[in-house]
Formats: sequence, structure tokens, C-alpha cells
Amino acid sequence: MNLYHRRLCRSPRWAGYVAGEMLPAVLDGVSLGRRVLELGPGYGASTRALLDHVPELVALENDPALAEYLRRELGPSLKVVMGDATAAPFKDASFSAVVCFTMLHHLSDSASQERLFAEVARVLEPGGIFVARDSSGGWRFRLIHLGDVCTPIDPRRLRDQLGRAGLNAVEIIAVPGSVQFKAHRPLLAGMVNNPVEPVSRMEAATSLARVVSCE
Ligand SMILES: C[S@@+](CC[C@H](N)C(=O)[O-])C[C@H]1O[C@@H](n2cnc3c(N)ncnc32)[C@H](O)[C@@H]1O
Repeated sequence: MNLYHRRLCRSPRWAGYVAGEMLPAVLDGVSLGRRVLELGPGYGASTRALLDHVPELVALENDPALAEYLRRELGPSLKVVMGDATAAPFKDASFSAVVCFTMLHHLSDSASQERLFAEVARVLEPGGIFVARDSSGGWRFRLIHLGDVCTPIDPRRLRDQLGRAGLNAVEIIAVPGSVQFKAHRPLLAGMVNNPVEPVSRMEAATSLARVVSCE
């Protein structure tokens, strides 16, 4: 992350938006189960909010300084693992849910995003859920990523990407500037039928944070 992006991601305003608006919208009606993995926790805006809702939370962060920061800040209530989400250092079927917020665009290309999806499918228990939200682009978003990796999600390709990774994508919602989605590891191997809803438009009032958001 560049300096500007780092400032945004650790700002109280971003934390308030994540805890007060983004997470409630993304997790509405979702049961995450007993053991949850968060990919790319960054400065912990989403992590802090998640801790109140899940019995056991593990965070996987590939920036050693941020992993250390999170260990200091969130202590024993959170297990922080340093590693790469495209080669996740966890056993198969070890989580009831995997979540990922404003992190996917930090991967270098869509092939890496697909490797991450395949890892999600592997570490999820059968029937487990993957919940994510990320940016689908826009000039402001590109601006705050100047000099930084920036690979926005393409909502039109997401259905195929998730299906190839072995996930049943049950819901994809495009909100202004962002896409949020839920997908499941099938209960039985080989049962991927990818019943994705068509991308729908939700005229949400969430554009407010777009200017200053990490999304
Ligand atoms: C923009 S931050 C988002 C942080 C947090 N989810 C939030 O919403 O505030 C993205 C984080 O993903 C991490 N990240 C990027 N690529 C990663 C990878 N391959 N594996 C694990 N973490 C990664 C970055 O280091 C950064 O901390």
C-alpha cells in the first residue's frame, strides 16, 4: 500500500465506515460459523468489527509489519498468521467461513485472484461460506492507488472465476464502485453448479465513503 492508502486504511473514518456500514451490509443474513479466516486484515478495521461476531478469528496478512501491528493491537483474541492468501498455510477444510474486504485488488492480476479463490475453496469446510467485498474500479479508486498494485474485481468475470475455483457462487451484488459476493464450498465434491444470480444493481447510499475509502 502507498502512504496515502495506509493513512486512509488506519483512519477512524474508515474504521467507522467498515464497522458501521460495510460489514453490516455484507454480513446481513450470513452465518459465519465457529471458525473464521480473514484474508488481508491490514490495520484491522474489519478485523476489530468481526471479533465481536465470531467465536474464533484467524487473520492472514502478508505484510510482516502489519501482522506484527495486529498482534500487538488485538492480542490474544485474534490469531495472526503471516503468509500469502494465494498459498494459504492452512489445512484443507479448516474454516467454517472465509472473509475478505477491500483486499482482492491488491493482488497483481486476475490469475492471482483465482488462486486465492481456489485456496478459499480448499480451506473451507464443505458447505462453508466465502464472503467478500472489493472495488470494481473508478478513477478515484485508481488515484489512491497511484504507484501501488491495483487489480479491481470484474463483476462480469467473477461468476466464472469462482466456479473454476470450485465454489458455488450464490450471490453477487454490485454496489456503486464495488462488488460484494457470497459463495459456498459445495457439500459434496464435484457438485459445483455455480448458480450465480445475475449481477444486480443496488442503489445503496454507500457512495459517501467512496472518496475516502480504501475500496
Ligand atoms: C486495503 S488493505 C484492507 C484491510 C482491511 N480488510 C480493511 O478493510 O481495512 C489490504 C490488505 O491485504 C494485504 N494483502 C495483500 N496481498 C495479500 C496476500 N497475497 N495475502 C495476504 N494479505 C495480503 C495487504 O498487505 C493489506 O494489509
